[in-house]
Formats: sequence, structure tokens, C-alpha cells
Amino acid sequence: MAEELIIPADTDRAGAYKALIPQIAALIEDESDLTANLANIAGALKQAFDFFWVGFYIAKEGQLVLGPYQGPIACTRIPFHKGVCGASYSRKETIIVPDVEQFPGHIACSSASKSEIVLPVFHRNDTVAMVLDVDSDELDDFSQADADGLNKILRMLEKKL
Ligand code: SME
Repeated sequence: MAEELIIPADTDRAGAYKALIPQIAALIEDESDLTANLANIAGALKQAFDFFWVGFYIAKEGQLVLGPYQGPIACTRIPFHKGVCGASYSRKETIIVPDVEQFPGHIACSSASKSEIVLPVFHRNDTVAMVLDVDSDELDDFSQADADGLNKILRMLEKKL
């Protein structure tokens, strides 16, 4: 297992994902424990990009329940229909929110969070197992490059579910 992440300093975000993806593949490939893999994916994304908050909300008990994450303390339970996480869960879609104040029903776990991207993670039967929530303290911080890079990481994770 790799002991440190290597991300070229002179690359754009798409280039950083390109460097990061094989390293995350190596981190999770020999580990069968889901919590360990979610924790290391959150850790790798925080370390590579220094996002304000990055972590998983897992679908269980009829709600989205806080899972492994990196960042400040957060809301523990989100109803399936609430906030950006709930919208991503129920629409089964990646959602990019350039300005959280413009998103009806956004759940403000922290007033420092300004923009976010939330992506669903699917079971083999196409139900949503969890969502990955990434929050930035800058407005309009996420683009298609994040959607593409993060979705590639989540497709690797789905193979371990
Ligand atoms: N941003 C989320 C809430 C979770 S916290 O920001 C960690 C939402 O509105 O779904």
C-alpha cells in the first residue's frame, strides 16, 4: 500500500485526479472493509485538494447517516429528500451547487461552506448505497472535472460493495 500521495504541483484539477485515481485504486484494492476504504478515500481527497469537508452519508434506517469524513463536525442525519445530499440520493444524480445559498433546502452544517458537489454511489441493483459530499469554502469551486474525477473514484468503490 502506498504510504504517501504524490500529486504534481503544477497540474490543474483534472490532472490531479488523473494522478490520484491509480493511487486510490492501490489504497482500496486489497482491503475488503468498507469503513476503512471510505475513510481512506475521504482522507486522500482531503489531502490532495484540501477541500473544506469531504465525506460519505450512508443510506440506512430510512435516512442518510454520517459516515467516514474529513473536516469539521457535521450533521449526523439527513432525510432522503432534504438538502443537496438528499437531492442527489433521490434523483440518483451528481449535483454541483455553485452557491449553496441559491439551493432551496440546502442544509448548512457550516456557514463556511459556499459551494458543493454531491454524487451517488450505487449498489449492483442500482439502488443508492450512499452519497459522497464535497464542500468548498469558495464559491463555484466545482466543475465537470470534479464530477468526472470523483465519479471514476466512486465506480472503483462500487466494485467493493
Ligand atoms: N451539504 C449538505 C449537508 C451536509 S454538510 O454540508 C457536511 C446538504 O445540503 O445536503
